[in-house]
Amino acid sequence: MAVAVAASILTADFGNLYRVVRKLERAGVDRVHLDVMDGHFVPNITFGPDVVAAFRRLTSLPLDVHLMISEPARYVSRFLDAGSDSITFHVEVDEADDVKLDTLERIGAARRQPGLAVSPETSMDAVRPFVDALGIIMVMTVQPGFGGQRFMAEQAPKIAEARKLLGNRPGTAVHVDGGVSSETAPVVGQHGVDVCVVGSALFQRGRDAAHEVQAVKRAAATGAVTGPA
Ligand code: DX5
Ligand code: ZN
Repeated sequence: MAVAVAASILTADFGNLYRVVRKLERAGVDRVHLDVMDGHFVPNITFGPDVVAAFRRLTSLPLDVHLMISEPARYVSRFLDAGSDSITFHVEVDEADDVKLDTLERIGAARRQPGLAVSPETSMDAVRPFVDALGIIMVMTVQPGFGGQRFMAEQAPKIAEARKLLGNRPGTAVHVDGGVSSETAPVVGQHGVDVCVVGSALFQRGRDAAHEVQAVKRAAATGAVTGPA
């Protein structure tokens, strides 16, 4: 399967979302990744369901919502109503397992893709109890909270673990998020990633976004061919 690119707009020009979306569509990204932060689960605040709804009006590209909030159960229906195509929250949130499972099932019942994200300090075993309700496992290769951080290569083997947990169930995908660029994409490709989230590498001055998107796809695919070092 070709590796897809989801563009994180966290470091984009929020003053001009229309131009940002047109630029990403021209660059050939496959999906848009929207980082929602509540200033509690992570030490940063970004945006809520109204901005997701604005992206829904601006593009037909699939919208992946990455919730870095402490109470996903309380807010998930607002993000469903806003037009998200997938909703991924963190397995580390301080909610009971049955509440997490119920939230995943509500996303699935709305015919969107439910996902769990796994932070660097968390083992992949933490998602095992929820695996049957999952469409996405998102492996964090940075500490959640900010764009432009250094890629943590030591987290990449979790991608293969996640794929093993999901098995070959159709429609499931392993996403990797944080510090991914054409330089680091071979590492994630080696472990069989499906979707690379790319943020600051698409918005850096002097970097052509279309070129970077193709370079990430090629590098991840090559990594997949050459296999772990
Ligand atoms: C970090 C976010 C990422 C981030 C990716 O908490 O979840 O999606 O925006 O951006 P880069 O590619 O710059 O690390
Ligand atoms: Zn993210």
